[in-house]
Formats: sequence, structure tokens, C-alpha cells
Amino acid sequence: MKLWSGMLSGALNDKAEEFNASIKIDRRLVFDDIDGSIGHVEMLGSAGILAEEESAEIIRGLRQIKAKLIDGELTVDEEAEDVHSFVENELIQEIGDLGKKMHTARSRNDQVATDLKMYLRRESGEIEELLKDYIEALLTLAEDNLDTIMPGYTHLQAAQPVTFAHHLTAYAMMALRDLSRLGDYKKRINELPLGACALAGTTYPIDREQVKDLLGFDAVMENSMDAVSDRDYVLELQSVLSLIAVHLSRFSEELIIWSSQPYGFVGIDDMFSTGSSIMPQKKNPDMAELIRSKAARLIGNMTQSFVMVKGLPLAYSKDLQEDKASVFDSVDTVKICLEVMTGQIETLKVHAEKMLKACKEGYLNATDIADYLVNKGVAFRDAHHIAAKLVKTAMDAGKTLEALSLETYKKESDKFEDDIYRAIDLKTIVAKRTSRGGPAKEEVQRQIAYVKDAISDD
Ligand code: ARG
Repeated sequence: MKLWSGMLSGALNDKAEEFNASIKIDRRLVFDDIDGSIGHVEMLGSAGILAEEESAEIIRGLRQIKAKLIDGELTVDEEAEDVHSFVENELIQEIGDLGKKMHTARSRNDQVATDLKMYLRRESGEIEELLKDYIEALLTLAEDNLDTIMPGYTHLQAAQPVTFAHHLTAYAMMALRDLSRLGDYKKRINELPLGACALAGTTYPIDREQVKDLLGFDAVMENSMDAVSDRDYVLELQSVLSLIAVHLSRFSEELIIWSSQPYGFVGIDDMFSTGSSIMPQKKNPDMAELIRSKAARLIGNMTQSFVMVKGLPLAYSKDLQEDKASVFDSVDTVKICLEVMTGQIETLKVHAEKMLKACKEGYLNATDIADYLVNKGVAFRDAHHIAAKLVKTAMDAGKTLEALSLETYKKESDKFEDDIYRAIDLKTIVAKRTSRGGPAKEEVQRQIAYVKDAISDD
């Protein structure tokens, strides 16, 4: 029976019935719905709105339904309109007419918002843990590659040498910000909507503080109209998850480039690669490509949520039922993306020799020729021109900068001495970049320690 049949016949047009139902989506809230109801009914008992024995009996019934669902003795009935109707109907089956008292001083409007918050705060906690695993995998690989010199790029053109550890730690920093955003989110989501009822509170002497404590919320939402209309906690999570996905997508793009033949910097493990049905030599980075495209999906989900809310007047409108499919999808998608990415990092093969070769061939030490001259009193602009000429000479001769003779150097400036070769040695270049945030070994070790410390804080 429909919860709302009474004035209306409750018999919907077949298509309208199918269209209106949300059970296929919101069934995953079933345990939160039951737990939320247990808190509500306990309060009804202690506030004297229900007799203590009635409250206890309803709670027993709800616990029984939960146990049966866990045992598989009961499954969610997809004929129900939504998860709230399913639980209430089951309760009436379980304990009889007394079950009809459960919904006193409550509406599905405050109920659904409470259920969804309970679900999302738990899921965001799980995502935090997965983010930490991802960060740990990045840092472990970074620690193994503190001396692995690789080209750093701007415009995807070889720029200056960095280390693989430095590059990986950059992604750890992004993930650390994501973690901090989730932490902020978890504080804001944790305000209780229940007790707002349909929109205007209730005449019953409810105790919202008690429900807040029973359900593990930090505060009670202070305005009942806001409480049932607010979906900030969906929009905010969609934003945070989209940003996580964008970061993973950028890293995926790097893995795809680095594992391609002209680069060959890394090898993605076979466990995370697929072959081609026609080209026997192919090993494709499908997982990285999928993560890159899942970011588009998350941004789509985020956009859907924002557009859904933007024109809604207060208070509840059925539009809000559409908040769940996309946020559930975002949660599921981000979780698997993080797990797959962590696995790829843990099994990644690093080809340090290819990275070093690319540094040499890319003239990445050109800046350091200029800096060498600056140290000998030449103005940076002039030094830059001299270095550029030397790069041109080396390119024309098909040589690296370290392979040019001292005579060639001296032709461009008499400031060059034998120590130029040490100054443009890639190891020296990286080792000297000790400025805070830079690629020198001890500096990257400090960055790694900073991230480790931040993730062990909470
Ligand atoms: N299934 C609904 C949702 O997800 C529950 C709230 C229904 N409230 C209402 N007044 N029709 O939003």
C-alpha cells in the first residue's frame, strides 16, 4: 500500500508508477533508513510521544528486519515505491498495526535527507582511506626513485631535470588537498535534518538533540525549511569527488604518455594492461584511459546535481529524488578509480635509463649554462643568448651539450672554464636545486615526510 493513499486512490497510471518509484536506486539506503528510524522511535519513546513499550516493540521489529536483510532471509522488495515505504510496510508485517505509529512526527522529506547524509558520511570516510592508500603508494614509489632523474616538462616540451620522486610527490600533494577537502566536508555534512518534518517542524514535543546524539550527528540543522531543501552535501561531495577524479585523470594521462614507445619511461604491469585483438605486439594502458574518462563522468554527475538544485524553490520538491543516482555513481566510480590507480602504482616498472637519456637529448641543462655565466658576472639576458647559441650548435652537430668541446664553449664566451662540465652535469643540476619545493634529494625527502606527517595526523 502507498504511504500516501488516503485522499488519493493510490492507484497510479502504470507508467507514472514506474516513473515515480525510486526503490531501485535508494534501496542501498536501507540500513541507514532502519538505523535512522531506530533513533527516531527511541526519541518518540523517551519524549512520551509513544509509550515506552511501543517504542521498544517498534525498535525490536526494525532490528529484526535488519537481521533478516543481513541473513538474506529478506530482500528489498522492488515493488515498493521507495526504501522508506519498504521499511514501513515490512515493519507493519513484522509487528502489526503498531508499526503504523513509527512515522509520527516525521516526514519522508527529513527522513530521506537524514538517510542520505548517514550514507554519504560513511562513504566519504571510505574514500578518505582509499585516498590514503593511493598517497602511500605514490610515496613508496617516490622513495625508491629519489635519485631517478627525469625530464620535467612545460608545454609538454622538455624543460629542466627533476626526479621521478619529485614528480610523484606533486601528485601526493594534490591528493593531500583532496583529503583535506573531504575532512572539511565531513564536518559540514554532519548536521541532522530529522525533526524538520515536512518543512514546518511539528507540534509534538520532539527532542532533536537526543536524535542527533543517537545518530552520531554533531549538530541539529537550525531551520526546518533549510533542513529539507538543502542538498549542499550532495553538491559539495560531487565537487570534491570530481576534483579527485580530475587529479587521477591527469596522472593517468602521464602514465599513458610515459608508457608509450617514444618515451618508455615506465611499464604498466600486465595486470593493468590489455592486448589488442588484432595487433599482437600491443599492450594498452586501458585502466589509465578509463580513469581519464571516468573523470568526465564525475563532472557530468556533478553538473547534473548543480543544475537539479539551481531553480528549486523551498522547500522539498520531488526533483530532489534525482540527487541519488548520480551521487551514488560518483561514489562508486571514485572508489574503483582509486583502487585501480593504487594497484597500477604499486606494480609500476620504472625505466630510469630511458628517463636519463631523454634528459640528455632534450638539452635540459641549457638553463644551467646560463646560470653558470651569471655566476661569473654575465647579465642573465646575455647569458641566455649565449646558452641558446650553444644549444643550436649542439643540435646542428647532433650532440649533447656535455659533448661539446671547451673550445666550442669558449668561442661563445671567455668565461667558460673546465668546470662547466660539472655545472651542467644532470646530477649536479638536480642536487643544487635545494630551494624549498625543489627536486634535490633531501628536499624531496622533506616533502615526503611532510605528506606522511599530514596523513598520520587524523
Ligand atoms: N523518494 C523520495 C526522495 O528520494 C523520498 C521523499 C519523498 N517525499 C515526498 N514528499 N514525496 O526524495
